[in-house]
Amino acid sequence: MPIRLILIGPPGVGKGTQAALIEERLGVRTLSSGVIFRAEIEAETDLGQLAKSYIDRGELVPNGVTIQMMLKRIRSDEARKKGFVLDGFPRTIRQAEALELELNQAEMPIQRVISLEVSEDVLIRRLSGRLGCTKCGALYHRTNKPPKRDGLCDVCNSPLFVRADDQPDTIRQRLVVFNEQTSPLVEFYEERGMLRHVDATHEAEEVYREIIEGLS
Ligand code: AP5
Ligand code: MG
Repeated sequence: MPIRLILIGPPGVGKGTQAALIEERLGVRTLSSGVIFRAEIEAETDLGQLAKSYIDRGELVPNGVTIQMMLKRIRSDEARKKGFVLDGFPRTIRQAEALELELNQAEMPIQRVISLEVSEDVLIRRLSGRLGCTKCGALYHRTNKPPKRDGLCDVCNSPLFVRADDQPDTIRQRLVVFNEQTSPLVEFYEERGMLRHVDATHEAEEVYREIIEGLS
C-alpha cells in the first residue's frame, strides 16, 4: 500500500524538513499547501494574490480555496499510486472533515497522522534563522544547518532567501492562529486513533526515524 501521512505542527517545527527527507528517501511525494501557495504568489496568479493577502498577515487562507487546491492534487493519479505526505494541510477542522470525506470515498486511508511538538522558544529560534533556496526549495538554518557557501544553496547553487512571513510580528500571529485553529486537529485525529506524538526537539535525523518507525 502506498504511504499516506499527515504532518501537523506549529510554524517552524520542521514539517517541511521532514517532508523533504521522506520524499528523498522513500520516494513519497510531498503536498505542501504553503509551498503551493508561494508558487502561486510567485507566478502572480489570482489565487496567489488572494493567498498573499492572508499569508503576509500570518492568517489562514480561506478554507474553500485551500480545500479545492489540495483535493485536486490528492485526486491525481500520481498521488493515488505513489502516496503522499501532507505538510500544512489540513489546518482547520473544516479542512480535516473535507479531507476525511474525500479519502473515505476514494478508499485511500491515511496510515498515520504525526503531531510534531516543540516548545515555543525553539520554534521562534528556528523560524528566525531559516533560509530557503529560491530555486529548489531546500531548507537551511543560519546556525542549525548553515549552507556550505554563505547565501547559496548547497544543492543547486541558487541564492537563499528569508520568507516574507518570517518577521517577528508575523511569526507571533502565525503561532496564535496555530493554537486557535490548528491545534484542535490533535484531538480530532486522536479520537480516530490515527495520531502519533513526536518530540521534534531532537535533531532532524532522529525525528525522521521516529516518524517512519514501523511504517511499511
Ligand atoms: P506554511 O508554509 O505551511 O508555514 P508554517 O506552517 O508556518 O510552517 P513553516 O513552513 O514555517 O515551518 P515548518 O514546520 O515547515 O518548518 P521547517 O521545516 O521549515 O504556511 C505558510 C502560510 O500559508 C500560513 O501561515 C497560511 O497563511 C498559509 N497556509 C498554508 N497552508 C494552509 C492551509 N492548509 N489553510 C490555510 N492557509 C494555509 O523548519 C524551520 C527551520 O528549522 C528551518 O530553518 C530548519 O532548517 C530548522 N529545523 C527543522 N527541523 C529541525 C530540527 N529537528 N533541529 C534543528 N533545526 C531544525
Ligand atoms: Mg514548511
